[in-house]
Amino acid sequence: MIVPFVDLQRQHRAIWNELETAVRAVVESSQFVLGRFLETFEHHFAEYCGVRHAIGVGSGTDALFLALAAAGIGPGDEVVTVPFTFAATAEAIRRTGATVVFVDVDPHTATIDPGQLERVITSRTKAILPVHLYGHPADMDRILTIAKRHGALVIEDAAQAHGTLYKGRRTGGLGHIGCFSFYPNKNLGALGDGGMVVTNDGAVAAKVRLLRDHGRRSKYEHVMVGYNSRLDGLQAALLDVKLRHLDHWNAQRVEAAERYLVGLPGSSLGLPSSAPWATHVYHLFVVRVPDREAFQRQMEAAGVTTLVHYPLPLHLQPAFASLPYKVGDFPWAERLAREVVSLPMFPGIREEEIAGVVHAVMLAITGSPTCV
Ligand SMILES: Cc1ncc(COP(=O)(O)O)c(C=O)c1O
Repeated sequence: MIVPFVDLQRQHRAIWNELETAVRAVVESSQFVLGRFLETFEHHFAEYCGVRHAIGVGSGTDALFLALAAAGIGPGDEVVTVPFTFAATAEAIRRTGATVVFVDVDPHTATIDPGQLERVITSRTKAILPVHLYGHPADMDRILTIAKRHGALVIEDAAQAHGTLYKGRRTGGLGHIGCFSFYPNKNLGALGDGGMVVTNDGAVAAKVRLLRDHGRRSKYEHVMVGYNSRLDGLQAALLDVKLRHLDHWNAQRVEAAERYLVGLPGSSLGLPSSAPWATHVYHLFVVRVPDREAFQRQMEAAGVTTLVHYPLPLHLQPAFASLPYKVGDFPWAERLAREVVSLPMFPGIREEEIAGVVHAVMLAITGSPTCV
């Protein structure tokens, strides 16, 4: 049996009529840039996150950059984040001219370790940028308490956490600003690129709106130098359709994760866990194995695609070589980067596919399909 890592076609086929209706409405109205489809989706997404404002932008990377810029972060400022994330998190900080400051992750949640924050916070620290990695929330209350003590903002990278709950509240709306990606394979994915900034701060929202659209207040009145980074009308209309299915799709991911957790051998594999305050939405189902290369080879031979998120922490990437870090500085990020491997996970994954993955994992790690 071949098990794909993600199958978006399955998801889209199931709602094809709704998507087709949305496309037709946009094409017939010609509201491709800004306009009512974007406004409607922004309204619905703000409501979903429990915040007052949502501003659609060109990508998750731009959401992070525009959020930081709108918060007034720039050269001379420091922003604290983790090295164990997708590059965009740190790229966005660098693009503002601010300095990236890394702290290690907590090994159980793979999210920022709040216990490391006080050690690196200085008078120049303007923001803490936790990443809700894999769909599991960072420990927001501890982060917010420390940030408040030091007058720093908390900007959430919720690119992998649409619908994730922290103590019953949706991520993205917990800090000062939340940033989402709608990259196609995300829990809420566009049929192309897209992103969203969410916030309760009206001034930040107004500034992101200006920045995403050439800094203009009206057609040719430019009050600041901005960018062209708008979520387009077609993507907004499609995302608005998909938002209606998000909770159901997340529930399917959780169900699949539960099957994996029952079937996989915790004794010889590091299995993902949820903190007591977390509702994981399993953007990715990530296990840890000591000999990853061999494991992936055997999985591939069994017809199961696996991926690695992420094989090299950012402090060891050439792109960030100018930062004052070296091997050994963030032991957990480095260890996770060596050991993590993501198994197939997507809404609509079939029971027999999960069984096939479990079977392949057993063979790969024990040489037997049943031995635990
Ligand atoms: C944690 C994280 N942050 C930021 C991004 C950037 O989002 P985008 O690809 O939409 O620019 C991603 C996307 O993969 C991500 O996973």
